[in-house]
Amino acid sequence: MNSNYRVVDPYPMYVRKARGSRLWDVDGNEYVDFNMAFGALVAGHSHPVLAKAMRDRVSNGTIFGYESVDAGRLADHLCQRFHMDRLKFSMTGLDATLFAVRLARAVTGRRRILKFEGCYHGSHDSLMVSIKPRKELSGDPKHPNVVPSSRGLLKELVETAIVAPFNDIDATESLALVHRDDVAGIILEPVPMNMGYVQPEAGFLEGVRAVADEVGAILIFDEVKTCGKWYGGAEEAFHVTPDVKVLGKAIGGGFPLAAVGGKASILDQVIPGQISHAGTFNANPLSISAGLVTLTKILTRAGVRHAQRMGNDLAKGYADVIGDHRLPMKVQAGGISGTIHFARHIVRDWRSFEEVDVGRWWGYYTAMLNRGVIPMATGADEQWTTSVAHTHADVARHLDAFEKVAEGMKEKQADMSIVEAI
Ligand SMILES: Cc1ncc(COP(=O)(O)O)c(C=O)c1O
Repeated sequence: MNSNYRVVDPYPMYVRKARGSRLWDVDGNEYVDFNMAFGALVAGHSHPVLAKAMRDRVSNGTIFGYESVDAGRLADHLCQRFHMDRLKFSMTGLDATLFAVRLARAVTGRRRILKFEGCYHGSHDSLMVSIKPRKELSGDPKHPNVVPSSRGLLKELVETAIVAPFNDIDATESLALVHRDDVAGIILEPVPMNMGYVQPEAGFLEGVRAVADEVGAILIFDEVKTCGKWYGGAEEAFHVTPDVKVLGKAIGGGFPLAAVGGKASILDQVIPGQISHAGTFNANPLSISAGLVTLTKILTRAGVRHAQRMGNDLAKGYADVIGDHRLPMKVQAGGISGTIHFARHIVRDWRSFEEVDVGRWWGYYTAMLNRGVIPMATGADEQWTTSVAHTHADVARHLDAFEKVAEGMKEKQADMSIVEAI
């Protein structure tokens, strides 16, 4: 396995090909796909417009070792669409959030990064803490312990993290104030999508904005997932503006592309000899062309609206079936994504996510696969993604499979716990 997130019992999926909303495994089974590469494929698999553009691109050079004209065009589009002054391209969410953290530390001259329990920002050392901490290690819910999410992390680095509970602004503020002169950045997924889908409660994002201002920290929205859920990302949905945004996944249409953007006063400090930003494949023509075509020709306002309609229909259908069968599950959804939490109560943070019945989720997921539907990305902490390629018939097939699975839901049980899959 090349990403621990793909590990699932009884065996991981091996795939031969995919097109539109469909995917075929090595045994030739066809699935309607609502994983969509963990949200990277809002444009669908191999969209014909993108496929043609990429064939042209490959014939005219795939990497130059110099900047390309299209990189500027795409940067302009992204800055306009996501309301940013300046932007730097990276390849993956991992290297973009790594750079955003360095930027916050460099600009403020401080060390500490405040993150939220249960949020994931890519597999790099500064932020690999308290992603899925075990109950016995995580401590006081208002003042969570900083729990390393992997072996091999330097203690000195782990100790620079501050971990706060999502949706609890008072606790967040008091934690930030303890280290007020040493908080370089506050980073969060504006909608945590590594605990399924967790709605930020009214005033929480505004509160975090105010806390960042109070302590003089750079506010970073990790929009690696959320940037693809609304046309203009989370700011369009929640009207809160951070200092720095990290974009990834959906903007590349299935090619590796990420970006860090924000205020000119911050980004303009990135110059040689001052703040390092480097990468042989940064803004490579393949990824740039993919991004440009995807965002200007496929994920247009109309395209995103279609995907959202499919997502809304799916969420409503789930809520209806769950209500009809009186199942102990809760739906949370927005934009083009959503999840069912296998819990009696609404999940609002990591501690409430711990109530999720992972064994029952696994039973549901496996039963859906057996009916030809990949219902969501792999893991009880993930969500579904609808794309421009999904149709009403795809959504109906998904809900029809769930209706059948729901009938036997009580038997779909296994003794499993949340695994630190990272
Ligand atoms: C919110 C968030 N940030 C960052 C990342 C890391 O992105 P990548 O897998 O492209 O490195 C992910 C990946 O799922 C993510 O969900």
